[in-house]
Amino acid sequence: MKFFIDTANLEQIKEAQDLGILDGVTTNPSLMAKEGINGKEAILNHYKTICEIVDGDISAEVLSTTYEEMIKEGEELAAIHPNIVVKIPMIKDGVKALKYFSNKGIKTNCTLIFSAGQALLAAKAGATYVSPFLGRLDDISVDGMNLIEEIRIIFDNYMFDTEILAASIRSPMHIINCAKIGADVVTSPLASILNLLKHPLTDSGLAQFVADAKKMG
Ligand code: E4P
Repeated sequence: MKFFIDTANLEQIKEAQDLGILDGVTTNPSLMAKEGINGKEAILNHYKTICEIVDGDISAEVLSTTYEEMIKEGEELAAIHPNIVVKIPMIKDGVKALKYFSNKGIKTNCTLIFSAGQALLAAKAGATYVSPFLGRLDDISVDGMNLIEEIRIIFDNYMFDTEILAASIRSPMHIINCAKIGADVVTSPLASILNLLKHPLTDSGLAQFVADAKKMG
């Protein structure tokens, strides 16, 4: 399973990269705005910097919602670096844009996926990734993990190349359950990745080993 980090924060991206487990980065307009990135030039430069830090797929989301504008914007984003993946919302014009980029050999990530039908449509249009949002479904008392299972079954039935990129991760259990189901990728905040490290028996066991090591001189 690939690990992506879901942030536009350069420090957090560097920290995950230094850990040696990072395969890529996802961003969205809210995450970019949170970092105070403003204006077209700043946006393109920020993606360029991320591509210099991480050698893996970097999702850059279009800000427009019409087919023509998404094509124009997506082509500008894709021109930044070969690792840029154009992130397109799951709307009618978005499906057309996925097909356009797929025909051109430009990677895409279809975002805001909340149903198996949406994932199927994105895969038919040739999306490289689909991003089902687990946490946001859990937030409204719908089992997000169930959606990952449904998409896994559908994609396996027809051997779609489209990868399941589990998004809107809220906890290390989301990551573990995605791995059990067979999601191809999880994109997670740094905190949930680091929480995978934690176990009280590891901490107490290590404290004992360190204390005993001192006795050995
Ligand atoms: C997906 O690519 C999105 O950036 C992200 O995972 C959304 O997560 P949120 O629901 O925590 O905002």
